[in-house]
Formats: sequence, C-alpha cells, structure tokens
Amino acid sequence: MNAWLTIDGLSLTEGGTRIIDDVSLTLGAQRTVVLGPNGAGKSTLLRLIHGLLHPSTGALRWSPTQSQAMVFQRPVMLRTTALANVIYGLKLKGFKADEAAQRAQESLARVGLEHLARRPARLLSGGEQQRVALARAWALEPELLILDEPTASLDPASSREVERIINEIAASGTRILMTTHNLGQAKRIAEEIVFIDRGRIVEQTPVAQFFNLPQTEAAQRFLKEEIP
Ligand SMILES: Nc1ncnc2c1ncn2[C@@H]1O[C@H](COP(=O)(O)OP(=O)(O)OP(=O)(O)O)[C@@H](O)[C@H]1O
Ligand SMILES: [Mg+2]
Repeated sequence: MNAWLTIDGLSLTEGGTRIIDDVSLTLGAQRTVVLGPNGAGKSTLLRLIHGLLHPSTGALRWSPTQSQAMVFQRPVMLRTTALANVIYGLKLKGFKADEAAQRAQESLARVGLEHLARRPARLLSGGEQQRVALARAWALEPELLILDEPTASLDPASSREVERIINEIAASGTRILMTTHNLGQAKRIAEEIVFIDRGRIVEQTPVAQFFNLPQTEAAQRFLKEEIP
C-alpha cells in the first residue's frame, strides 16, 4: 500500500490539555475509518488533516498533494437552492459558471436529488441536506474526501442512503477518511481501521482483524461498550 499521507509527531494542545498527543500515522488505504470513544480526538484529528486546525507540533506529509473536501455531521447549507449550494462550491474552486452549473446538476443526479435541485436547501430534510453536501463535495472530484460522522443525525434509511453514496464516491476513485459511531457502517465501508483513545493512536489494522481480533484492551473494551 502506497502512503498518501504520513503524519509525524502531531500534537494539539488547547488550554493546557493535549487533545492530540504525539500522533504518528501512515495512511495508505483507500477507505480508512477512524474509531474511538467520545472525546478521543477523532474530529480534531480530521480537522487537523483537512487544515482547519493548526497543530501545536508535528507535520503532515502528503504524497502527492491531494485535493480534498470535507463533510460534517450537520451539513452547512447556504440560504439558497440545493443547486446553487453545489455551484457555489465549484465556483470557489475556480470553475466557470457554465461548467459549474453542469457539474452541479450531474452531481445532484448522482446522489438522486435532481428533482430537488431548485428547492431551498435549508428546507430539505436532514438526509437530503446531507446528500446535497455530498454532491457539493463529489462535484469537486477530490482525491480525498474526509467525513466526520456523516450519518450521526440521520434515521437508518437515510443513513444507508448516505452510506451507499459514500461507497459510490469511493468506487469513483476518491479516497475516504471518515469517523462514525456506527460499527456496522465502519465494517461496510472501511478497509482499514484507525482506533484512537485519549488523543493517541492505539491500533491501526485491517478492518476484519480489528473486529475479530482487536489487539489492545482499549479496543476490546470499546467494541464491547459501543452499541452496534
Ligand atoms: N478548542 C478546544 N479547546 C479545548 N478542548 C477541546 C477543543 N476542541 C476539542 N476539545 C476537547 O478535545 C477532546 C477531543 O474532542 P473531539 O471532538 O476531537 O473528540 P471526538 O473523538 O470527535 O468525540 P465524539 O465521538 O464525541 O465526536 C474532547 O475532550 C473535547 O472536549
Ligand atoms: Mg467528533
């Protein structure tokens, strides 16, 4: 597996607390899921990787540099139509109006929302808004898509739909780096699991091994306590 990201001695300290504690990690899988208990530092790690936070120490080495997009638990929708939300993302990346409009339409169609393209995005259901957020990210055809608990606020049916879209985005060649508290979802999406606890990397293993034969006590405890 070729590494696409190498993380060296990454730490983030806020108010005297080490939220991320000397993390060194090589990511090479196409679909990586970060697991860990509440407060472990999963969101913080993803935000550091996406460049939304700056580390106190340590460095990220990309090979090669990756275009990337991020999707959050609660989609951030502008006060305009679903289509205009997707177009907006493309224009920010420098696409001209015509091409942006066409790509945005196609991307909404890929997530099954072409019929809602002209609706005000903020009036769509949570699941539909999350699909607009995925369309906005997918339209950019990023090499890496980072998702922080993308289905945490959704009902089971909407979750499965979002999961199906994530798998399609992965199949289109985009790398996936995500977190979830849904272990079934982690099993269905991940190739590799990174397990973190209290800001530290505890295990990094192929998905089957993590669930069948967790190496550490912390991971065993986590799997017992987490509701599937
Ligand atoms: N800006 C900040 N200042 C101080 N503490 C912070 C800050 N941001 C996060 N924390 C703390 O760092 C820890 C890790 O937070 P983070 O949101 O990364 O956890 P998480 O693994 O994503 O948890 P969850 O599963 O609940 O989403 C938590 O204890 C949180 O309260
Ligand atoms: Mg989180």
